[in-house]
Amino acid sequence: MRAVVLVGGFGTRLRPLTLSAPKQMLPVNGVTMLERVVTNLARGGVTEAVLALGYLPEVFQAEFPSGEIAGVKMHYAVEPEPLDTGGAIGFAARFAGFTDDTFIALNGDVINDLDIAGLVAQHKAFGGEGTIHLTPVEDPSRFGVVPIDAEGRVEAFIEKPPADEAPSNWINAGTYVLEPSVLDRMPEGEKVSIERAVFPDMVADGQLYAVQRDGYWVDAGTPESYLKVALDLVNGVRSNEPAVAADTTVAPSATIIGSIVGSGAVIDAGAHVEGSMIQRGAHIGANARVVTSIVGPNALVGPGASLEALTVVGDSVTVESNSVHVGAKLPDVPKE
Ligand code: GTP
Repeated sequence: MRAVVLVGGFGTRLRPLTLSAPKQMLPVNGVTMLERVVTNLARGGVTEAVLALGYLPEVFQAEFPSGEIAGVKMHYAVEPEPLDTGGAIGFAARFAGFTDDTFIALNGDVINDLDIAGLVAQHKAFGGEGTIHLTPVEDPSRFGVVPIDAEGRVEAFIEKPPADEAPSNWINAGTYVLEPSVLDRMPEGEKVSIERAVFPDMVADGQLYAVQRDGYWVDAGTPESYLKVALDLVNGVRSNEPAVAADTTVAPSATIIGSIVGSGAVIDAGAHVEGSMIQRGAHIGANARVVTSIVGPNALVGPGASLEALTVVGDSVTVESNSVHVGAKLPDVPKE
Protein backbone atom coordinates (compact mmCIF):
# COMPACT_ATOMS: atom_id res chain seq x y z
CA MET A 1 0.00 0.00 0.00
CA ARG A 2 1.13 3.56 -0.76
CA ALA A 3 0.38 6.82 1.08
CA VAL A 4 0.41 10.58 0.57
CA VAL A 5 1.28 12.39 3.82
CA LEU A 6 0.25 16.06 4.01
CA VAL A 7 3.00 18.04 5.71
CA GLY A 8 3.05 21.34 3.83
CA GLY A 9 0.97 23.59 6.08
CA PHE A 10 2.36 26.64 7.88
CA GLY A 11 1.41 25.37 11.35
CA THR A 12 0.44 28.89 12.39
CA ARG A 13 -1.30 27.76 15.57
CA LEU A 14 1.96 26.28 16.83
CA ARG A 15 4.01 29.43 16.33
CA PRO A 16 6.62 30.34 17.42
CA LEU A 17 7.77 26.68 17.46
CA THR A 18 6.91 26.39 13.75
CA LEU A 19 8.91 29.45 12.75
CA SER A 20 12.06 27.31 12.73
CA ALA A 21 10.66 23.83 12.09
CA PRO A 22 7.59 22.59 10.23
CA LYS A 23 4.91 21.18 12.53
CA GLN A 24 5.53 17.55 11.62
CA MET A 25 9.24 17.91 12.45
CA LEU A 26 8.50 18.94 16.04
CA PRO A 27 9.47 16.34 18.64
CA VAL A 28 6.87 14.19 20.38
CA ASN A 29 8.94 12.88 23.28
CA GLY A 30 12.18 12.84 21.31
CA VAL A 31 10.77 11.38 18.08
CA THR A 32 9.41 13.64 15.32
CA MET A 33 5.65 13.79 14.80
CA LEU A 34 6.28 12.55 11.25
CA GLU A 35 8.14 9.43 12.40
CA ARG A 36 5.31 8.61 14.80
CA VAL A 37 2.79 8.91 11.95
CA VAL A 38 4.84 6.92 9.43
CA THR A 39 5.51 4.18 11.99
CA ASN A 40 1.75 3.60 12.26
CA LEU A 41 1.46 3.57 8.46
CA ALA A 42 4.17 0.90 8.28
CA ARG A 43 2.31 -1.17 10.88
CA GLY A 44 -0.75 -0.99 8.62
CA GLY A 45 1.07 -2.31 5.54
CA VAL A 46 2.28 0.93 3.89
CA THR A 47 5.66 0.38 2.19
CA GLU A 48 6.00 3.57 0.12
CA ALA A 49 4.92 7.14 0.82
CA VAL A 50 5.24 10.65 -0.57
CA LEU A 51 5.49 13.77 1.60
CA ALA A 52 3.36 16.61 0.22
CA LEU A 53 5.76 19.42 1.10
CA GLY A 54 5.33 23.18 0.98
CA TYR A 55 6.60 25.08 4.03
CA LEU A 56 10.31 24.57 4.91
CA PRO A 57 10.69 21.43 2.73
CA GLU A 58 14.49 21.31 3.13
CA VAL A 59 14.11 20.54 6.86
CA PHE A 60 12.49 17.18 6.02
CA GLN A 61 15.04 16.24 3.38
CA ALA A 62 17.94 17.13 5.68
CA GLU A 63 16.53 15.06 8.56
CA PHE A 64 15.81 11.97 6.44
CA PRO A 65 18.49 11.96 3.72
CA SER A 66 18.28 8.19 3.30
CA GLY A 67 14.81 8.54 1.79
CA GLU A 68 13.44 6.07 4.31
CA ILE A 69 11.44 6.53 7.52
CA ALA A 70 10.50 3.55 9.73
CA GLY A 71 11.27 1.21 6.82
CA VAL A 72 8.92 3.09 4.46
CA LYS A 73 10.44 4.35 1.18
CA MET A 74 9.85 8.11 0.95
CA HIS A 75 9.40 10.49 -1.97
CA TYR A 76 9.54 14.28 -1.52
CA ALA A 77 7.09 16.35 -3.57
CA VAL A 78 7.60 20.10 -3.14
CA GLU A 79 4.68 22.25 -4.31
CA PRO A 80 5.55 25.34 -6.33
CA GLU A 81 2.87 27.18 -4.29
CA PRO A 82 0.43 26.06 -1.54
CA LEU A 83 -2.29 24.05 -3.30
CA ASP A 84 -4.47 23.43 -0.22
CA THR A 85 -5.16 19.90 0.97
CA GLY A 86 -6.81 18.47 -2.18
CA GLY A 87 -4.44 20.14 -4.64
CA ALA A 88 -1.50 18.96 -2.54
CA ILE A 89 -2.68 15.33 -2.52
CA GLY A 90 -3.13 15.45 -6.32
CA PHE A 91 0.29 17.04 -6.88
CA ALA A 92 2.14 14.61 -4.60
CA ALA A 93 0.34 11.47 -5.85
CA ARG A 94 1.16 12.37 -9.48
CA PHE A 95 4.75 13.28 -8.56
CA ALA A 96 5.30 9.86 -6.95
CA GLY A 97 3.38 7.95 -9.62
CA PHE A 98 0.62 6.82 -7.23
CA THR A 99 -1.94 7.05 -10.01
CA ASP A 100 -2.80 3.43 -10.80
CA ASP A 101 -3.90 1.90 -7.50
CA THR A 102 -5.79 2.52 -4.26
CA PHE A 103 -3.80 4.79 -1.93
CA ILE A 104 -3.95 6.33 1.54
CA ALA A 105 -3.93 10.10 2.08
CA LEU A 106 -3.61 11.59 5.55
CA ASN A 107 -2.90 14.70 7.58
CA GLY A 108 0.62 14.45 8.95
CA ASP A 109 -0.28 16.02 12.28
CA VAL A 110 -2.79 13.46 13.50
CA ILE A 111 -1.51 10.97 16.05
CA ASN A 112 -3.54 7.79 16.33
CA ASP A 113 -3.37 4.01 16.51
CA LEU A 114 -5.72 3.48 13.56
CA ASP A 115 -5.70 0.02 11.95
CA ILE A 116 -4.86 1.18 8.41
CA ALA A 117 -5.10 -2.32 6.91
CA GLY A 118 -8.59 -2.67 8.42
CA LEU A 119 -9.64 0.67 6.92
CA VAL A 120 -8.44 -0.44 3.48
CA ALA A 121 -10.37 -3.73 3.77
CA GLN A 122 -13.52 -1.83 4.72
CA HIS A 123 -13.02 0.52 1.76
CA LYS A 124 -12.81 -2.43 -0.65
CA ALA A 125 -16.02 -3.85 0.84
CA PHE A 126 -17.85 -0.50 0.38
CA GLY A 127 -16.68 -0.23 -3.23
CA GLY A 128 -16.80 3.59 -3.40
CA GLU A 129 -14.20 6.07 -4.61
CA GLY A 130 -13.21 7.01 -1.08
CA THR A 131 -13.50 5.97 2.58
CA ILE A 132 -12.65 8.23 5.48
CA HIS A 133 -11.91 7.52 9.11
CA LEU A 134 -14.22 9.19 11.65
CA THR A 135 -13.45 9.74 15.32
CA PRO A 136 -15.76 10.99 18.10
CA VAL A 137 -14.94 14.30 19.81
CA GLU A 138 -16.66 16.18 22.63
CA ASP A 139 -16.86 19.47 20.76
CA PRO A 140 -17.18 19.01 16.99
CA SER A 141 -17.48 22.74 16.25
CA ARG A 142 -13.88 23.17 15.04
CA PHE A 143 -13.91 20.06 12.84
CA GLY A 144 -15.70 18.59 9.81
CA VAL A 145 -18.74 16.66 11.03
CA VAL A 146 -19.65 13.62 8.91
CA PRO A 147 -23.07 11.95 9.30
CA ILE A 148 -23.41 8.50 7.62
CA ASP A 149 -26.33 6.21 6.77
CA ALA A 150 -26.79 2.58 7.87
CA GLU A 151 -24.61 1.36 4.95
CA GLY A 152 -21.71 3.66 5.88
CA ARG A 153 -22.34 6.09 3.03
CA VAL A 154 -21.57 9.70 3.88
CA GLU A 155 -24.70 11.89 3.90
CA ALA A 156 -23.09 15.28 4.26
CA PHE A 157 -19.82 17.01 4.98
CA ILE A 158 -20.36 19.86 7.42
CA GLU A 159 -17.23 21.97 8.10
CA LYS A 160 -17.06 23.59 11.54
CA PRO A 161 -20.77 23.66 12.51
CA PRO A 162 -21.90 25.80 15.48
CA ALA A 163 -21.79 23.52 18.57
CA ASP A 164 -25.58 23.19 18.94
CA GLU A 165 -26.14 22.48 15.22
CA ALA A 166 -23.80 19.52 14.73
CA PRO A 167 -25.82 16.43 13.68
CA SER A 168 -23.33 14.11 15.41
CA ASN A 169 -19.98 14.25 17.18
CA TRP A 170 -18.22 11.96 14.67
CA ILE A 171 -15.71 14.04 12.77
CA ASN A 172 -13.33 13.65 9.83
CA ALA A 173 -10.24 12.19 11.51
CA GLY A 174 -7.86 13.00 8.65
CA THR A 175 -7.05 9.55 7.19
CA TYR A 176 -8.55 8.57 3.82
CA VAL A 177 -8.46 5.59 1.46
CA LEU A 178 -8.85 6.85 -2.12
CA GLU A 179 -9.19 5.33 -5.57
CA PRO A 180 -6.99 6.92 -8.25
CA SER A 181 -10.17 8.22 -9.94
CA VAL A 182 -10.38 10.80 -7.12
CA LEU A 183 -7.36 12.49 -8.73
CA ASP A 184 -9.67 13.58 -11.58
CA ARG A 185 -11.44 15.71 -8.97
CA MET A 186 -8.13 17.48 -8.23
CA PRO A 187 -7.12 19.10 -11.54
CA GLU A 188 -3.37 19.49 -11.95
CA GLY A 189 -1.98 22.72 -10.50
CA GLU A 190 -5.34 23.86 -9.07
CA LYS A 191 -5.75 24.97 -5.48
CA VAL A 192 -8.54 22.87 -3.95
CA SER A 193 -9.56 21.81 -0.45
CA ILE A 194 -10.33 18.12 -0.01
CA GLU A 195 -12.59 18.87 2.97
CA ARG A 196 -14.52 21.77 1.46
CA ALA A 197 -14.67 20.84 -2.25
CA VAL A 198 -13.59 17.30 -3.18
CA PHE A 199 -15.46 15.45 -0.41
CA PRO A 200 -18.75 17.37 -0.80
CA ASP A 201 -18.63 16.57 -4.57
CA MET A 202 -18.06 12.90 -3.79
CA VAL A 203 -20.98 12.95 -1.33
CA ALA A 204 -23.19 14.42 -4.06
CA ASP A 205 -22.15 11.52 -6.34
CA GLY A 206 -22.74 8.90 -3.60
CA GLN A 207 -19.06 7.90 -3.77
CA LEU A 208 -17.86 8.66 -0.25
CA TYR A 209 -18.04 6.20 2.66
CA ALA A 210 -16.79 6.41 6.24
CA VAL A 211 -16.02 4.19 9.20
CA GLN A 212 -16.37 5.15 12.83
CA ARG A 213 -13.38 4.08 14.96
CA ASP A 214 -13.14 5.08 18.59
CA GLY A 215 -9.41 4.64 19.41
CA TYR A 216 -6.67 7.01 20.58
CA TRP A 217 -6.75 10.10 18.33
CA VAL A 218 -5.30 13.58 18.73
CA ASP A 219 -4.93 16.34 16.14
CA ALA A 220 -1.65 17.79 17.40
CA GLY A 221 -2.10 21.19 15.74
CA THR A 222 -2.50 23.46 18.79
CA PRO A 223 -0.17 24.03 21.78
CA GLU A 224 -2.68 22.26 24.04
CA SER A 225 -3.10 19.17 21.84
CA TYR A 226 0.62 19.02 20.94
CA LEU A 227 1.53 19.04 24.64
CA LYS A 228 -1.13 16.42 25.37
CA VAL A 229 -0.01 14.03 22.64
CA ALA A 230 3.56 14.14 23.99
CA LEU A 231 2.65 13.82 27.68
CA ASP A 232 0.25 10.93 26.94
CA LEU A 233 3.29 8.89 25.86
CA VAL A 234 4.93 9.22 29.26
CA ASN A 235 1.99 9.38 31.70
CA GLY A 236 0.43 6.01 30.94
CA VAL A 237 -2.53 7.33 28.93
CA ARG A 238 -1.00 5.83 25.78
CA SER A 239 2.33 4.39 26.97
CA ASN A 240 5.03 4.75 29.61
CA GLU A 241 8.04 5.88 27.59
CA PRO A 242 10.88 7.47 29.63
CA ALA A 243 10.09 11.19 30.09
CA VAL A 244 13.57 12.54 30.78
CA ALA A 245 16.35 12.01 28.24
CA ALA A 246 19.51 10.29 29.52
CA ASP A 247 21.88 13.22 28.96
CA THR A 248 20.08 16.00 30.85
CA THR A 249 21.53 17.93 33.81
CA VAL A 250 18.98 18.31 36.59
CA ALA A 251 19.90 19.95 39.91
CA PRO A 252 18.94 17.80 42.93
CA SER A 253 16.71 20.56 44.33
CA ALA A 254 14.75 21.01 41.09
CA THR A 255 11.30 19.40 40.88
CA ILE A 256 10.03 17.79 37.70
CA ILE A 257 6.46 16.52 37.74
CA GLY A 258 4.63 14.89 34.79
CA SER A 259 6.88 16.53 32.21
CA ILE A 260 9.17 15.73 29.29
CA VAL A 261 12.79 16.91 29.40
CA GLY A 262 14.68 16.59 26.11
CA SER A 263 18.22 15.68 25.30
CA GLY A 264 20.91 18.03 26.65
CA ALA A 265 18.47 20.18 28.65
CA VAL A 266 19.63 21.77 31.91
CA ILE A 267 17.36 22.40 34.91
CA ASP A 268 18.92 24.54 37.62
CA ALA A 269 18.50 24.50 41.40
CA GLY A 270 15.05 25.18 42.81
CA ALA A 271 13.35 25.20 39.39
CA HIS A 272 9.86 23.74 39.20
CA VAL A 273 8.70 22.05 35.98
CA GLU A 274 5.20 20.59 35.88
CA GLY A 275 2.98 19.23 33.05
CA SER A 276 5.37 20.76 30.53
CA MET A 277 7.69 19.98 27.63
CA ILE A 278 11.30 21.18 27.83
CA GLN A 279 12.85 20.58 24.42
CA ARG A 280 16.43 19.58 23.60
CA GLY A 281 19.19 21.87 24.82
CA ALA A 282 16.84 24.24 26.69
CA HIS A 283 18.02 25.73 29.99
CA ILE A 284 15.66 26.45 32.88
CA GLY A 285 17.30 28.87 35.31
CA ALA A 286 17.35 28.67 39.10
CA ASN A 287 13.95 28.95 40.81
CA ALA A 288 12.14 29.38 37.48
CA ARG A 289 8.63 27.93 37.24
CA VAL A 290 7.34 26.21 34.10
CA VAL A 291 3.78 24.88 34.37
CA THR A 292 1.67 23.46 31.47
CA SER A 293 3.97 25.14 28.97
CA ILE A 294 6.38 24.35 26.13
CA VAL A 295 9.99 25.56 26.05
CA GLY A 296 11.50 25.24 22.56
CA PRO A 297 14.95 23.90 21.66
CA ASN A 298 17.98 25.75 23.09
CA ALA A 299 15.76 28.38 24.74
CA LEU A 300 16.87 29.95 28.02
CA VAL A 301 14.34 30.64 30.77
CA GLY A 302 16.01 33.13 33.08
CA PRO A 303 16.26 32.56 36.85
CA GLY A 304 13.01 33.20 38.69
CA ALA A 305 10.90 33.52 35.53
CA SER A 306 7.40 32.04 35.58
CA LEU A 307 5.65 30.44 32.60
CA GLU A 308 2.18 28.95 32.78
CA ALA A 309 -1.15 28.27 31.00
CA LEU A 310 0.24 27.08 27.64
CA THR A 311 3.01 29.61 27.29
CA VAL A 312 5.13 28.64 24.26
CA VAL A 313 8.79 29.70 23.99
CA GLY A 314 10.39 29.55 20.55
CA ASP A 315 13.69 28.08 19.37
CA SER A 316 16.74 29.70 21.08
CA VAL A 317 14.64 32.48 22.70
CA THR A 318 15.74 34.00 26.02
CA VAL A 319 13.05 34.64 28.63
CA GLU A 320 13.97 37.49 30.98
CA SER A 321 14.78 36.64 34.59
CA ASN A 322 11.86 37.04 37.02
CA SER A 323 9.39 37.82 34.19
CA VAL A 324 5.86 36.35 34.39
CA HIS A 325 4.02 34.88 31.37
CA VAL A 326 0.52 33.43 31.26
CA GLY A 327 -0.68 31.84 28.00
CA ALA A 328 1.99 33.82 26.14
CA LYS A 329 3.87 33.22 22.92
CA LEU A 330 7.53 34.25 23.19
CA PRO A 331 8.33 36.00 20.99
CA ASP A 332 4.81 37.24 20.42
CA VAL A 333 3.46 36.18 17.03
CA PRO A 334 0.70 37.92 15.11
CA LYS A 335 -2.68 36.15 15.27
CA GLU A 336 -3.95 34.93 11.87
P1 GTP B 1 -2.51 25.96 10.93
O1 GTP B 1 -1.72 26.93 10.07
O2 GTP B 1 -2.10 26.00 12.37
O3 GTP B 1 -3.98 26.04 10.73
O4 GTP B 1 -2.10 24.49 10.46
P2 GTP B 1 -1.82 23.88 9.01
O5 GTP B 1 -2.45 24.64 7.91
O6 GTP B 1 -0.36 23.63 8.93
O7 GTP B 1 -2.50 22.49 9.17
P3 GTP B 1 -4.02 22.02 9.02
O8 GTP B 1 -4.29 21.20 10.23
O9 GTP B 1 -4.91 23.16 8.74
O10 GTP B 1 -3.91 21.13 7.71
C1 GTP B 1 -4.02 19.73 7.73
C2 GTP B 1 -2.80 19.06 7.12
O11 GTP B 1 -2.62 19.49 5.78
C3 GTP B 1 -1.52 19.38 7.85
O12 GTP B 1 -0.78 18.17 7.91
C4 GTP B 1 -0.83 20.42 6.97
O13 GTP B 1 0.59 20.27 7.03
C5 GTP B 1 -1.34 20.07 5.59
N1 GTP B 1 -1.56 21.19 4.67
C6 GTP B 1 -2.42 22.25 4.82
N2 GTP B 1 -2.39 23.05 3.74
C7 GTP B 1 -1.48 22.51 2.87
C8 GTP B 1 -0.99 22.87 1.56
O14 GTP B 1 -1.37 23.88 0.94
N3 GTP B 1 -0.05 22.05 1.00
C9 GTP B 1 0.41 20.93 1.64
N4 GTP B 1 1.34 20.17 1.02
N5 GTP B 1 -0.02 20.55 2.86
C10 GTP B 1 -0.95 21.33 3.46
